[in-house]
Amino acid sequence: MTMKKLRLAIFASGNGSNAEAIIKHLLNSATVEVSRIYSNNKDAYVIERGKKFNISTDIFNKIEFTSQEFSETLLNKKYDLIILAGFMWLVPPSIVASYKNKIINIHPALLPAYGGKGMYGDNVHQAVIENNENESGITIHYVNEYYDEGDIIFQTKCTVLNTDTPDSLAERIHKLEHQHYPKVIEKLCAEIL
Ligand code: GRF
Repeated sequence: MTMKKLRLAIFASGNGSNAEAIIKHLLNSATVEVSRIYSNNKDAYVIERGKKFNISTDIFNKIEFTSQEFSETLLNKKYDLIILAGFMWLVPPSIVASYKNKIINIHPALLPAYGGKGMYGDNVHQAVIENNENESGITIHYVNEYYDEGDIIFQTKCTVLNTDTPDSLAERIHKLEHQHYPKVIEKLCAEIL
């Protein structure tokens, strides 16, 4: 008997290096697949990355994203998990409610520090460096109605050097993300199965 695979949706707004790391990691999985990518940005590089693996991307604007129809359609798709990977918009409460504890995000710092509205990308790394932190890291967490406030699933740290720029720190953080996000997702999937 062939078992039905768990189906993941990835939401991404930009480059999509985490999305690609996840897709690649699950490519040979017998139990989980990335079914679709969703993006608010028609120019996002994640779209090209998806194409390489025959994964289509749905593009939407803010009015569509916050509509009742969008959340109903998404609910009907019955994804097993929704993965945010560099997705810039707050997820509407109706989607959070219908996918309770099934939406996961990754943040490029050690939450609850350096989180919240406006804390994304280089803003995060800039603030970490300005505050002379010795360590930063990544946080993988469930998504609730607020930016970066859902329960934490996984964290790991890296050193911040006193020679770091936002770019060099971002590079170190990205490596950590690519190394851990796919595995954490795989583990969560194993718990659902
Ligand atoms: C990552 O650093 C992630 O932590 C944050 O957005 C960035 C996305 O990078 N939420 P990419 O698009 O996956 O390369």
